[in-house]
Amino acid sequence: MQIMVLNTPEEAGAAAAVVVRDCVQAKPNAVLGLATGSSPLPLYDALADTGVDFSGVTGFALDEYVGLPPGDSRSYACVIDSEVTRRLGLRPEAVHVPDVFAPDLEASAQDYERAIRDAGGVDLQILGIGHNGHLAFNEPGAALDSRTRVEQLAERTRRANARFFDSPDQVPTRCMTQGIGTILDARQLLLIAHGADKADIIARALQGPVTPDCPASALQLHPRVTVILDQAAAAGLR
Ligand code: GLP
Repeated sequence: MQIMVLNTPEEAGAAAAVVVRDCVQAKPNAVLGLATGSSPLPLYDALADTGVDFSGVTGFALDEYVGLPPGDSRSYACVIDSEVTRRLGLRPEAVHVPDVFAPDLEASAQDYERAIRDAGGVDLQILGIGHNGHLAFNEPGAALDSRTRVEQLAERTRRANARFFDSPDQVPTRCMTQGIGTILDARQLLLIAHGADKADIIARALQGPVTPDCPASALQLHPRVTVILDQAAAAGLR
């Protein structure tokens, strides 16, 4: 595991952009795993300035809420569309988000797994981390070999994400998320975290025991992981 510590979230975003740029320049039709949340935003900002050609790239989002109406601005489909697809110039039809409007959600989750496989697998998966150690929406207790499925959101996660909604009770209670096993299948992982509120969970995930209690500890099982932190998020590392 390669861990880089930069002074600010902006510098961390620029360093992460180099990793993504290298991947796409080496393979113009690369498959990128796309994360939402605030952690990757400095990365997407930096990428928007690099002039890398994303027109051949395929994207797969990590997760999506279940229960928001189609087109809701808080849905990850909309967030990915505005923050990534349009800004970086991916082809909209090459960007995939779990279909949470299908009549059979279990079949939809399996279709998503198949679509990732059919695309040749994810070359580079961008990741943030939740305060409770969640990866995508794999909450504590999720099996380390889990696949894409419908899950309940932890109360801690709903509280953290309430900032995007008018009131905490509007945050959906369910989601569809890639599994930890799905994420670990990617050929390269890029975890980004910033802020003092992530220091404890970063230390647990990267240097604590590998356990479903901290889903992000599964990163320790992957042979090719780059972690990019600001000073504040790295403060708990030994
Ligand atoms: C969200 C997303 C995750 C994200 C995490 C951290 O709920 N589902 O993919 O990594 O929580 O979010 P943030 O980066 O805003 O702290």
